[in-house]
Amino acid sequence: MTYRSAAKFYDLFGEKNDLGFYKELALQSGKNALELGVGTARVAIHLAKAGIRVVGIDNSDFMLEEARRKLAKESMEVREKVILKTGDLRNFELHKSFSFIYIPASTFDHCITVQDRNRCLTCVYKHLEDNGRFVFDVEQATLEKPLASWWIDRKKINKDEMVVRSIFTRRDFGRHTCSMDLFFDVYKNGKLTERHHEFGEVAMLSKRELTDLLEELGFEIEAIYGDFDKKPYNPDSSKIILVTKKK
Ligand SMILES: C[S@@+](CC[C@H](N)C(=O)[O-])C[C@H]1O[C@@H](n2cnc3c(N)ncnc32)[C@H](O)[C@@H]1O
Repeated sequence: MTYRSAAKFYDLFGEKNDLGFYKELALQSGKNALELGVGTARVAIHLAKAGIRVVGIDNSDFMLEEARRKLAKESMEVREKVILKTGDLRNFELHKSFSFIYIPASTFDHCITVQDRNRCLTCVYKHLEDNGRFVFDVEQATLEKPLASWWIDRKKINKDEMVVRSIFTRRDFGRHTCSMDLFFDVYKNGKLTERHHEFGEVAMLSKRELTDLLEELGFEIEAIYGDFDKKPYNPDSSKIILVTKKK
């Protein structure tokens, strides 16, 4: 995904019910966390408010700029708990280890190739403290979902302006990827004033593929959930949420 000019609309459409889940696990695991693909710091700020120190890396300066803008509005106590860095989740060296590493919002799906996933998980393993936890969620790609789909939603940003987001997705079950075009159109008093386009491709991963890779790289799988209320995973779950430990 490009995550460029439309970064400013990410939070507008990005509400999710994962905050309590990641906060609970971060608190249980110690108070020293690393978020990969931190984006607008949606989760990182929530954890910092609970007393957790978070380092967040992202390869989009647009998303990091948005995160810094939000962080600047927080109290000194929260601001000093969050460190944001430009970096690639497939290849990073922070010279530090963490008790909790997490990748929310299906960001691991951005690792399109097996090499990407291997490199990312190898870096995670290296940066985890012994017995530290690594937790992430991805979308479950079921065959029942249509090959191509689109949806549109809209949000008001003030009295006169609204943003319309249109998403077009195409699934390729041969390559195990899903490509998508996102358009963000800003209307002022009914007139189109801005259009932002983002394109991206994400992987469609199976539970088996993920657990095999994690175990091969030395992670112990503690739990697999199907949603953030901790319902056990099943083949119809919309998500695959993996809670793992460094052995
Ligand atoms: C779906 S957003 C999630 C943002 C945030 N974690 C959240 O939960 O709201 C995915 C984020 O991952 C970042 N990202 C994608 N590929 C990346 C890579 N290879 N290295 C670092 N960040 C990446 C994007 O720039 C974007 O900010």
